[in-house]
Amino acid sequence: MNKNNIKSAILKTIKPTADERVLLSNVADELIEKVNSTAAGQNIPDVSARLVGSAARGTWISGTHDLDIFITFPDETSREELEKFGLSIAREIAKDAEKSEEHYAEHPYINMRYRDFDVDLVPCFRVSSPGSIKSAVDRTPFHNEFIKQNISGLEDDVLLLKQLMRGGGVYGSELRTQGFSGYLTELLVIHFGSFEKVLESACNWKPNLVIDIKEHGSLKHTDPLVVIDPTDPKRNVAAALSLDNFSRFIDISRSFNQNPTEEMFFPPPAKELTDHEFIERVNLRKSAIVAVVFKTPDVVDDVLYPQLYKMEQATAALLEDYDFTVIKTGSWAGDDVVVLLELMTSTLPDVKKHVGPPVWVRAHAEMFKSKYEGADDVFSMYIEDGRYVVEIPRKYADAKKLIEGRLGMCSLGKQITASVSEGFEVVEGKEILRVKESGFRVFLRGWA
Ligand code: CTP
Ligand code: MG
Repeated sequence: MNKNNIKSAILKTIKPTADERVLLSNVADELIEKVNSTAAGQNIPDVSARLVGSAARGTWISGTHDLDIFITFPDETSREELEKFGLSIAREIAKDAEKSEEHYAEHPYINMRYRDFDVDLVPCFRVSSPGSIKSAVDRTPFHNEFIKQNISGLEDDVLLLKQLMRGGGVYGSELRTQGFSGYLTELLVIHFGSFEKVLESACNWKPNLVIDIKEHGSLKHTDPLVVIDPTDPKRNVAAALSLDNFSRFIDISRSFNQNPTEEMFFPPPAKELTDHEFIERVNLRKSAIVAVVFKTPDVVDDVLYPQLYKMEQATAALLEDYDFTVIKTGSWAGDDVVVLLELMTSTLPDVKKHVGPPVWVRAHAEMFKSKYEGADDVFSMYIEDGRYVVEIPRKYADAKKLIEGRLGMCSLGKQITASVSEGFEVVEGKEILRVKESGFRVFLRGWA
């Protein structure tokens, strides 16, 4: 199929139907009306609810029923009042929800399931310009205005770009994904002019690319991609994008240009890796796969995932410090956390070569020599390249024992440290198959 046929086939599935749009706008209107009347009923003056995000801009993907409703308060409102009144209005509305949950970001907000929509009710300040925002969410209404003024005619291009990024696993700016946010995709389409022009450009992207639509950026950023917020000269909209996801998108763009397929937008769901397949892979690779398993701490994803990524690095650094060679790391969290490490080998010889000072640095050299000469456990001592060298027993010849003995000394995040200190297990090779969670097995297919 050629590009145009693929694009129209994909649009058929991702573009909301007229009925779907009507339903969404009815539910949004109903909620806005409820916020306004609840505020009036509670004698809270000058509150106005607005629909923001992709639902307000015609850039939402069919089937994703998200509504971002902002409860805006006058600029002069105090932070305490905003939080108190915002919550009391949101709680009243949540009484009619199928279910609801209070969250705490910069301010408290409520996420609820309402008439089958996933609704965020977020209090914010109605400030006069983005330069005077009091919290990060206060920018969103300005984003809305900018996109609404510039997106007309380009909505389908945004939908295609979002779906291609989703298919490639690079859509979403949460700390778990570190990919492209919805607002970022909209800005890219506005800047380059179409879905295909974004991809053509991305084929040649290099890190430190700066896109400044309004030519008003006022700070230096060091991120791989810098897209200056048209509503705020200080902010990089792409700050959450990792170097790897930036690079994956370049790769996706080149593949699409060479050989576009529908599967790039909708890849077949990955299957679980079976015990048999895993054992076969382990036998073929002849490396050592080691996993650290412990209970997942009960925290939100934005707290959990950065700690997980940090733990991967810290564990790999521990192993490297003790002479193990790490091929790659990975991590997955469900009921349990599994941090995986693939090593060249998980056991090392008992002998370790320890290089001392040059012989001519007399004081150090004499100290070194007297410490090791004649000691019971020294295998041998000699001079090489002008230095004393001793061969001594290795403290940890086994990767599993090293992790068991020293993981507690690694610097891990707060909640992961707490969970690890309640107990963890180190398993190797086919012992890893005792983790049966289906999501883990799917992850393992892509990793091992
Ligand atoms: N927003 C932001 N920065 C983020 C996340 C959100 O500035 N990291 C703002 C944007 O203005 C965004 C709005 O909050 O449009 C709503 O966020 P979200 O629902 O995550 O994104 P959408 O643009 O609605 O995209 P999607 O289609 O994925 O829902
Ligand atoms: Mg949204």
